[in-house]
Amino acid sequence: MIVLGIETTCDETAAAVVERSEDGRGKILSNIVLSQVSEHAAFGGVVPEIAARAHVEALDLIITRALTDAGRTVDDLDGIAAAAGPGLIGGVIVGLTTAKAIAMVKRKPLVAINHLEAHALTARLTDATPFPYCLFLGSGGHTQIVAVLGVGKYVRLGTTMDDAIGEAFDKTAKLLGLGYPGGPQVEKEAVRGNPARFALPRPMQGRKDADFSLSGLKTALRIEAEKVAPLSDQDVADLCASFQQAVVDVVADRLRAGLRIFRSQYGAPSALVAAGGVAANQAIRKVVQRLAFEVGTVLVAPPLELCTDNGAMIAWAGAERLALGIMDNLEAAPRARWPLDEIAASKAPPKTSAWK
Ligand code: KG4
Ligand code: ZN
Repeated sequence: MIVLGIETTCDETAAAVVERSEDGRGKILSNIVLSQVSEHAAFGGVVPEIAARAHVEALDLIITRALTDAGRTVDDLDGIAAAAGPGLIGGVIVGLTTAKAIAMVKRKPLVAINHLEAHALTARLTDATPFPYCLFLGSGGHTQIVAVLGVGKYVRLGTTMDDAIGEAFDKTAKLLGLGYPGGPQVEKEAVRGNPARFALPRPMQGRKDADFSLSGLKTALRIEAEKVAPLSDQDVADLCASFQQAVVDVVADRLRAGLRIFRSQYGAPSALVAAGGVAANQAIRKVVQRLAFEVGTVLVAPPLELCTDNGAMIAWAGAERLALGIMDNLEAAPRARWPLDEIAASKAPPKTSAWK
């Protein structure tokens, strides 16, 4: 089965062609990602209107490139998948409408994909990870711990009450006068900083639930920065190191709580999967690895280019759905908000026997 995937929910215009064999193995035939980072950099964050326009301008060419690189034509496709949300609505409309047009003209099945579902299923494309597994997704827009029980069967175990984890990195960078996106800059500064110099809070630590809260951390950082301003290079490095250490501790504590909930409801996970741009952070990766070890499971961390937004994950989620005979009609709506476990067959956590 060969599927085209289109991703336009944020600031990446992406298209890819992915093949799924009958035994459920995946193969990426092409994966084209055009980042808009430079267009948003001056604003310190993604500007929705600029993003939507940039998707309109680039998407046709990106799709053509994806097909050419894969050595396939539209006629070879078994389905067209597009991210239908959640995300910036202008961009989502561009991608979904383009997918509908191709599907209609070429009479191909359309699959409207939840972007978070695509992140959740990527580990099956890269590592054929069997269900059930525990996903930690940390990106600029999302912070979630999810029990991935089957295609379409997701139970959110924890999420953020305020800022997303990547957003916290971005805001910290902005506050300290570092560039955008902030995560990599903060990580770079943290390497030469003292993580113990500033006493920052560990919000939600010790709670039984697996939820996050990151906005207090950002505020505490601002107060500490104001106390020592004007900031020297060493101050900036120490603030970054102290911030990153606080995030690492929070991730460890929240993930430990999430894994505890997972085990009590669904038994041992086949893996702990890390996804999203924040998973690129070495300190965070290390702590996630430690957590996996602690609960006696393996860490699956797809390569960076598949952790951040891309078309291959959308195509793959489309292929997984099509393989089960699931598709959408041309009325499929673009959605700015679309919680992952809303697409679960039932809202109630399924019993182990129901999906095993
Ligand atoms: O998954 P992603 O590429 O895009 C979405 O937000 O969907 O994630 C981007 C986010 C940004 O907030 C960025 O600052 C963060 O991931 N990020 C990092 C690192 N690399 C990217 N955060 C911490 N450390 C990093 N090395
Ligand atoms: Zn994403």
